[in-house]
Amino acid sequence: MSETMQPKILVTGGAGFIGSHTVVDLVENGYEPILVDDFSNSEHSVLAGLEAICGRRLHCHKVDCRDRAGLTNLFESEGPITGVIHFAASKAVSESQDKPLMYYGNNLGSLITLLEVMGEFGVRDLVFSSSCTVYGQPKKLPVTEETPVAEAASVYGATKQIGENILRDLIASAAPHRIMLLRYFNPIGAHPSALIGELPLGAPQNLAPLILQSAAGMRGPIQIFGDDWDTPDGTCIRDYIHVLDLAAAHVKGLAWMAGQSEAPLLEVLNVGTGRGTSVKEALEAFERATGRPIEYEVGPRRPGDIEKIYADCERVERVLGWSATRSIEDAMRDAWAWQEALGGR
Ligand code: NAD
Ligand code: WQD
Repeated sequence: MSETMQPKILVTGGAGFIGSHTVVDLVENGYEPILVDDFSNSEHSVLAGLEAICGRRLHCHKVDCRDRAGLTNLFESEGPITGVIHFAASKAVSESQDKPLMYYGNNLGSLITLLEVMGEFGVRDLVFSSSCTVYGQPKKLPVTEETPVAEAASVYGATKQIGENILRDLIASAAPHRIMLLRYFNPIGAHPSALIGELPLGAPQNLAPLILQSAAGMRGPIQIFGDDWDTPDGTCIRDYIHVLDLAAAHVKGLAWMAGQSEAPLLEVLNVGTGRGTSVKEALEAFERATGRPIEYEVGPRRPGDIEKIYADCERVERVLGWSATRSIEDAMRDAWAWQEALGGR
């Protein structure tokens, strides 16, 4: 299909960790991604890596998704837009507790402005970045889409729950949208080219970037937040999914929506591997994948941490015909190659 014919997909937050890897999958599947990012948590340098991987120039617009005029101009200049994947948000749980207004303003303001502009231009298909954080600590595992949403444990988690409610209410108002809520678990890894990955802007909060920086000698031993949890080795369990597998789920989601009837729809899908991995097992996976030892110490629990969560992937496999294909070792290997490419950054 010539580039002029390719369906245009708006990727908000397209310069970010998951967005950039999804841009690659979109190009590989014959779409034309249009990137929108305010670069509040990413760098322009991502584009060089992206264009090298994609083998083509990419349209990227520095726009804050809360800027209605900016988004309107974008829809006018880049239209017609076939669908939108909305990654743009602030995502640091601890920061959200210190800056609630920033988080509510950004994560909800961006979503509402985007939806208003989509409505003006008759753009109906939206994939929304949600999170397993909406479940809190599930009573039953693996967690399914029917698992009750828990009371938000953070402002960040509340923005995801409210975002989902906004979209449900939009569909209930008979707006003609087709919406997919993807609840991600713990994305890790990087593109095997080591040209894009998770940028360590500021002090990392998440385990994977901390492992990389510890292995690179940029910080001391990993602090394991408690080994007295009710798990086989006493450390918390999560569902770590390779970012490339997660990216592929978005593109499959767009294709699935395009194949549905014109009727409004809202589909909620857990996107994980279905495998629970403890913190210690994650460290061991890194060592197996890279041959590099990881030093760790056991410290106190981190406030707000849940004990264990991992996905039941039956629905996403049935609806999208998608499942994760990469292991945690694959993710750790790819992440380490990215860290080495970053050097001491
Ligand atoms: P990221 O910070 O790497 O990417 C988000 C991108 O959005 C950044 O490039 C940032 O500059 C941009 N952005 C933020 N606010 C914006 C705005 N108002 N207008 C335009 N651009 C804006 O984060 P990520 O890890 O790629 O996460 C992407 C999405 O997935 C987020 O919605 C996040 O909440 C969600 N999510 C992430 C994880 C995770 O562990 N990484 C897990 C579950 C859900
Ligand atoms: C993973 C495990 C920690 C660091 C968060 C957000 C969630 C989503 C994904 C956005 C936990 C342990 C970590 C360390 C440790 N983000 N850990 N020592 O907390 O599962 O989820 O990121 O949607 O909303 O809450 O990810 O990577 O911070 O922690 O022992 O130095 O590693 O206790 O069990 P988490 P994480």
